[in-house]
Amino acid sequence: MKIAVLVSGGGTNLQAIIDAIADGSITNTEICLVYSNNPNAYALERAEKAGIKAVAKSPKEFPSRQEFNEALLQILKDAEPDLVVLAGCLVVIPDIVVREYQNRIINIHPSLIPSFCGTGFYGLKVHEKVLERGVRVSGATVHFVDEGTDTGPIILQKPVMIRQDDTPEVLQRRIMEQAEWKILPKAIDLIANGKVRVEGNKVVIDGYDDIF
Ligand code: GRF
Repeated sequence: MKIAVLVSGGGTNLQAIIDAIADGSITNTEICLVYSNNPNAYALERAEKAGIKAVAKSPKEFPSRQEFNEALLQILKDAEPDLVVLAGCLVVIPDIVVREYQNRIINIHPSLIPSFCGTGFYGLKVHEKVLERGVRVSGATVHFVDEGTDTGPIILQKPVMIRQDDTPEVLQRRIMEQAEWKILPKAIDLIANGKVRVEGNKVVIDGYDDIF
């Protein structure tokens, strides 16, 4: 299975995918493209070090959003991925891309959807709101991307207990380490091996009850 990974920042989730392919915990998968809207994203350096084709194109380089959206679709089509992975991608994925890759785009979100998600909930903001609300558990979610924001069918989730001395930064790091970097590679491996299918607004995974 060929995957295109879309990034905007540090790329630790991309690195987790690269490492999981290298150590065999993701099988039957190769990264055919890394795309970033941010030419300064450290994720691009990670791709280069791993010998993966990387493309950086910012919406600012285009006269209109529509022209950026069409360029993004073409960048993906040229790479011919079977699966598109949003790994810390802060660009709104246009409907023309979502339609082209129906149920073939997955996203990692740093909370237990449907809590603390949707417009405005990204990066550190998610963890600030979690601590503000005083919940005892958060975590991460991998879901298929549909036309909404963080509203597609849920594939995997992993809880992380919150400590009373947590800051947003400490919580973000723990959720990355204990949840994101585990369930994103796992979801990719399951999809790559034909174990995942969407039924209505739900995901069915072969052997799910024995995974964790
Ligand atoms: C992660 O917290 C991810 O959940 C969110 O954006 C952050 C990206 O981190 N979508 P990285 O670029 O993968 O290090």
